[in-house]
Amino acid sequence: MRKKISVIGGGNVGSTTALFLAEKHLGDVVLTDIVEGMPQGKGLDMYETGPIHGYHSRIQGTNDYKDIAGSDVVVVTAGLPRKPGMSRSDLLGMNARIVGEVSTHIKNHAPDAIVVVVSNPLDIMCSVALEMTGFPKERVIGMAGVLDTTRMRCFIADELDVHAADVVALVLGGHGDSMVPVISTATVSGIPLTQLLPRERIDAIVERTRKGGGEIVALLKTGSAYYAPAASAVEMVESILLDSRRVLPCAALLDGQYGISGCFVGVPVKLGARGIEQIYEVKLADDELKALQASAAAVKEDLDALKGMEY
Ligand code: LAC
Repeated sequence: MRKKISVIGGGNVGSTTALFLAEKHLGDVVLTDIVEGMPQGKGLDMYETGPIHGYHSRIQGTNDYKDIAGSDVVVVTAGLPRKPGMSRSDLLGMNARIVGEVSTHIKNHAPDAIVVVVSNPLDIMCSVALEMTGFPKERVIGMAGVLDTTRMRCFIADELDVHAADVVALVLGGHGDSMVPVISTATVSGIPLTQLLPRERIDAIVERTRKGGGEIVALLKTGSAYYAPAASAVEMVESILLDSRRVLPCAALLDGQYGISGCFVGVPVKLGARGIEQIYEVKLADDELKALQASAAAVKEDLDALKGMEY
């Protein structure tokens, strides 16, 4: 049977996600947005691309949440993007209201779906989605680590003039300035990065990775990145739908792992047909573990701020 994937939010991230899903033949796609005509127009345009690009996915645009019924996976991209000078946390109240509403619709119309959250501030929006859907925690997963990691892989590849596909890196923690690139695990085809680059070059790559989203916001001026975010979300969806059990850094609700409880942060997880099949607890160096816990503390600060808000 063909799989069904719904993408909530027809903006740049949502529509690019829909296109990449179709191009990977992952199933039929429903693109949902509140703006009348926009998801229908984009959906039809993408559907009409199929004969040329060789995909057969139906891509349906809609303003009606009833159309997401029966979805295997729902990708939540709805919400406002950052503008230059804004942190992801500045989006908190507004996007919590939007993601909260969307989550209620998912609960009502697609109660068996696995939810991949992309909206920012990511780790907090995962908590909102978990609470408002009431889904088990393995079915609410945040996209951030794959994106932060692919950025870091590109920066390392550039520096060494090698193919980025051979670069393995891991970025943990919240999707914000406190994210934790774990240098001790970075390799190029098995060669430790620390044997290939001096410390100061690695430090510069870590800093650029932390600010990777902001670098693109500053260039675009009107919004945030969307090609790599969409590709990252689709990599997660693919592992879920094909039950391929990729091990990817994703935001997961922790209950004690790494000494962290009660919030979502990025950790390595096994993604399969049931969503998060396993959370890996990597043995980190003391300073890395401290940085991860500090990152979780920053996420919790935003969670507390949200509790005090009307949304
Ligand atoms: C970024 C946004 C999508 O990192 O959070 O580009």
